[in-house]
Amino acid sequence: MCGIVGYVGPQQAAPLLLEGLGRLEHRGYDSAGIAVLGPGKESRVRVAKKAGRVRDLADELPKRFSGKVGVGHTRWATHGPANDVNAHPHVDTKGDVAIVHNGIIDNAAALRADLADAGVDLVSDTDTEVLAHLIGRSEAQTLEGKVAEALARIEGTYGLAVLHAAYPDRIVVARNGSPLIIGIGDHEMFVASDLAALVRYTTRVAHLDDGELATLTADGFSTYRHDLTSVPRSATDLELDPTAYDAGEHESFMRKELLEQPEVAERVLRGRLDERFGTSHLGGLDLDPRELRAIRRVKILGCGSAYYVGQMGAGLIEELARIPADAEAASEFRYRNPIIEPETLYVVVSQSGETIDTLLAVQEIRRKGGQVVGLVNVVGSAIARECGRGIYLHAGPEVAVASTKALTNMFLGFALLALQLGRVRDLSIADGRRLVAALQALPAQIGEVLALEPELTGLAARLAESHSLFFIGRVRGFPVAREGAQKFKEITYRHAEAYQTSELKHGPLALIEPSVPTVAIVPDDELTERNVGALHEVAARGGPLVVVTHASVDLGDLPSQASVHRVDVPRSERELDPILMTVVLQILAYHAAQSLGLDIDKPRNLAKSVTVE
Ligand code: AGP
Repeated sequence: MCGIVGYVGPQQAAPLLLEGLGRLEHRGYDSAGIAVLGPGKESRVRVAKKAGRVRDLADELPKRFSGKVGVGHTRWATHGPANDVNAHPHVDTKGDVAIVHNGIIDNAAALRADLADAGVDLVSDTDTEVLAHLIGRSEAQTLEGKVAEALARIEGTYGLAVLHAAYPDRIVVARNGSPLIIGIGDHEMFVASDLAALVRYTTRVAHLDDGELATLTADGFSTYRHDLTSVPRSATDLELDPTAYDAGEHESFMRKELLEQPEVAERVLRGRLDERFGTSHLGGLDLDPRELRAIRRVKILGCGSAYYVGQMGAGLIEELARIPADAEAASEFRYRNPIIEPETLYVVVSQSGETIDTLLAVQEIRRKGGQVVGLVNVVGSAIARECGRGIYLHAGPEVAVASTKALTNMFLGFALLALQLGRVRDLSIADGRRLVAALQALPAQIGEVLALEPELTGLAARLAESHSLFFIGRVRGFPVAREGAQKFKEITYRHAEAYQTSELKHGPLALIEPSVPTVAIVPDDELTERNVGALHEVAARGGPLVVVTHASVDLGDLPSQASVHRVDVPRSERELDPILMTVVLQILAYHAAQSLGLDIDKPRNLAKSVTVE
């Protein structure tokens, strides 16, 4: 949700900033801008910003835009519409200060009023502009002092980077609730809200914690608190493959990430399965068997797709470990003053590790003394650090807004957790081994599902012709339907609604007609007969059907005029079937969006990580 990049060093900043912004664009893409500090004694701040994509900004950048210190931003609008004026960077009245900011300033309205009373002319609708003026008006003698003084008046969240014409050798950055990573080069320094913008230049990084600021100059960085007392941060070298952030020969990141699933699934399982004892090893969980046995309930929290896969995870835990488990949207949890129980294990799940609602849920649980573990993809992210223990998902960088490979690895992370919880309880060694073998086979089976792509392409294009669709499933299949509907609406902008198959006749059946297709999840399990019954009810009302099922399932004699397309998926163990069916729905959503000619990696109104409440 908004991306920040900054540079100070011997090179021209503008091309580096634009390149970095291009890599951050998945974080927000309604406008973009950069500011550089011009060379020489008479240095001044130059700003270029524009509604639209980074390439629109690059196309219109003035030819002479030189400066070796600069900051850039790609925006996802919160305060005010996406237009040139509201785009970042924002400047103060004199044009000395330029600031880029992620997050939300909660007391912006009051501060705007104070500034207006003091005669300041605010030109944008944003909360960020307030900060530019506060810094510009500060009488502190250093840029560090000016920024700290301005921040003392701010309530809210921020990751920000500031330039000032009077201090042309530096950038001051600050973090509170929005990520910032410092990249350390050879006599040059970078800052970004996401590693993606840094890896091309350096893999030596330092993380800032909330409540900390840093000053970057070409020769190094220093970190300090708001009272300007030093808080040293050491640098670490990351093992990162810079090409992981490139789409390569693929037409989109989503397609690349879809196709990576067999490989990343293998990675999350690697070294974690124990064939002999039919269990899993999860070192990062940091819970011994006695502590695992003491757990009486599991509560899973995540947002969006992470919440839906959390529902799949809760099902796995109940089935394998027979511990009551449920999932809840992290965005709601904190607001109902949740009861935190000592014998409950709270599991938060997040690809980015930055989703603010999930992070705040972790903080609420910890504040009340609950034990929380994280299933997180991004190593060292805020949620991973706040949890302190959990299961890393090893899916690699996920760039497309629509989550695919991270979601698959979340499911596998839950399977590993459920297996371990089960094996310290009543799950037999035979059942444990059965699941270990099935998990080992899953990466190849995901590959088999991906091989169905040619068959699914035309089908997806036909589904895309409908403006409204149902996705239905029962018990294990219901979260699959929810995730399928989510993926479909996210990137096709079609109305896709998930329902429990059993609930159809309690209302939504009224909407079934030839223009409203239903995608049904019908695994070969104890509910097959009932699921098939519901298909007949839909077909009898002229509703077209896409049935995601197993070859062994007999759909019976559906009315001859009914439009039915079945997609047979390889069988796993029934507890694990949901993920194979989910991959089918990912492919359908992808090709439906492609047939509509949409920008799949950057769906309208969305951003990759949601770092505002
Ligand atoms: C997934 O396709 C969505 N873009 C979205 O629902 C996402 O899963 C959600 O915002 C949570 O993100 P996280 O996993 O990074 O916490």
